[in-house]
Amino acid sequence: MHGYEKYIPFKPQPIENRTWPDKVITKAPIWCSVDLRDGNQALIDPMNMEEKLEMFHMLVDEIGVKEVEIGFPSASDTDYSICRELIEGGHIPDDVTIQVLVQAREHLIKKTFEAIQGAKHVIFHFYNSTSTLQREVVFHTDVEGVKKIATDAADLIYEMAQPVIASGMDLRYEYSPESFMGTEMDAAVDICAAVLDHLHADADHKVILNLPTTVENCMPNQFADEMEYFIRKLPGRERAIISLHPHNDRGCGVATTEAGLLAGAERVEACLFGNGERTGNVDMITVAMNMYVQGVDPELDFSHMDRIISMYERCTKMKVPERQPYGGDLVFTAFSGSHQDAINKGFNYMAEHHSEKWMVPYLPIDPTDLGRAYEPVRINSQSGKGGAAFIMNHKFGFDMPKAMHAEFGAIVQAESDRQGVELKPDVIFQLFKQEYLEVDGPYRLISNKLRANVENGVAHSFFYGKLQHKDTVFEVQGEGNGPIDAFFNAIANERMSRYQFIDYKEHAISQGSDSQAVAYIQLRTLDGQDVFGVGIDHNISMASIKGILCAVNRAWAAERK
Ligand code: KIV
Ligand code: ZN
Repeated sequence: MHGYEKYIPFKPQPIENRTWPDKVITKAPIWCSVDLRDGNQALIDPMNMEEKLEMFHMLVDEIGVKEVEIGFPSASDTDYSICRELIEGGHIPDDVTIQVLVQAREHLIKKTFEAIQGAKHVIFHFYNSTSTLQREVVFHTDVEGVKKIATDAADLIYEMAQPVIASGMDLRYEYSPESFMGTEMDAAVDICAAVLDHLHADADHKVILNLPTTVENCMPNQFADEMEYFIRKLPGRERAIISLHPHNDRGCGVATTEAGLLAGAERVEACLFGNGERTGNVDMITVAMNMYVQGVDPELDFSHMDRIISMYERCTKMKVPERQPYGGDLVFTAFSGSHQDAINKGFNYMAEHHSEKWMVPYLPIDPTDLGRAYEPVRINSQSGKGGAAFIMNHKFGFDMPKAMHAEFGAIVQAESDRQGVELKPDVIFQLFKQEYLEVDGPYRLISNKLRANVENGVAHSFFYGKLQHKDTVFEVQGEGNGPIDAFFNAIANERMSRYQFIDYKEHAISQGSDSQAVAYIQLRTLDGQDVFGVGIDHNISMASIKGILCAVNRAWAAERK
């Protein structure tokens, strides 16, 4: 027998005229965070009081979650004390409901009622396993047996809840047929309907039926079929809020959640970054942000992702993987040259068209919506000419002419090949400085005078100056219809004149409170090579002259390489 033959394939639920494939998600579900319970119980070092409180506050105060499963107070002293601290320490905002989990067992239910005393809004969440496998292997019972466990618990909870509700607590019930995904659908319907009856559920007193994929065992479409079938068959569907609790064993937790919502579920239990048992619970952030980028308000706020990550990593001692959707360090980064180029074009297109819609290829979401540093382009040896120019523009404000991208890109790429690692923006700026701003000779401008006249409406410029070439100082002068022209004519008789002026571009640049002009000059050598120079000065004409000298000096150096 082969290894794979020992596994029992999933049996799809037959369903006719399914409707979920034609639906789209148009509104946020009710969110419930299970980070402090399911997420916490799966940690190598479960969170202590301080860490749980920190995470609780992040969830409710900053992310905006309104329902939080805070633990399993009957099962651990830490969870019990945290429950008490949350209630007695006044940590729970009035619009937030805490949820407590308990097995369908009498003494644990009683202890859980003790733990919640004094809380304003509580979801009392009880569960027992209902699947074929668990019935046979763990409980040695049949559907009626697991149904009785559930309804006995429902009776006790209902009875104990009445005085608590009468004393003013807003207490609601949640039931989970644990391992729902491995339960025959008709049996799941039968058990859940009985629980609804025993809890006296009606449209005004809805009970949350939480249908977990405790272990993910089928494809998302098959789960959606189960969900649609379950909801259709449930007697008195209006008595229930259908909740999802997907785990991620096949890596499809997000897809399963989305398919489940299409099939009629209205609530999602999830964890940040998909923390949770084994491969985790479904990732709340991915499901929410997937809605966001479809133009649907997820009603959760992840606009401060870096703070969420550092809280999460500190409290759970887990790491957010670099390619984690929306949160990972590398997810707003393009290394490939053609991607960088297209991203650059997307930003330019949006600016030129004053587009309110996000139209940047390769970036499904604007990183600033997650409060991320603006780093859509990073540079390694795979990067093209546009990437370095993008960084110089977006990080440092140097908007090089398009024709110059290739020259500077090649310089950056050579350095990246040489170092064999990613080049950070500061290193790229250093390269730019060395290459263009710190060029010192052999030609230097010692002194100069620039004069501009307008005669008969025609502008005219005169340049007089002293230049130095190595140890020789010489005087030059020239005139033209602008400062660049005048300077170029002034040096026309010198050896420096072996260059043809091709183009220039200038713009203002502010460094701190200081605003200067930067000029980019493109010259062509006698053998047809283009070479660029950059000049910065408070005076725009001087910036251009410095740019020409820079280009000449760079061409001179290149000829001698
Ligand atoms: O995964 C699961 O089935 C659970 C239940 C207790 C809801 O965590
Ligand atoms: Zn779970």
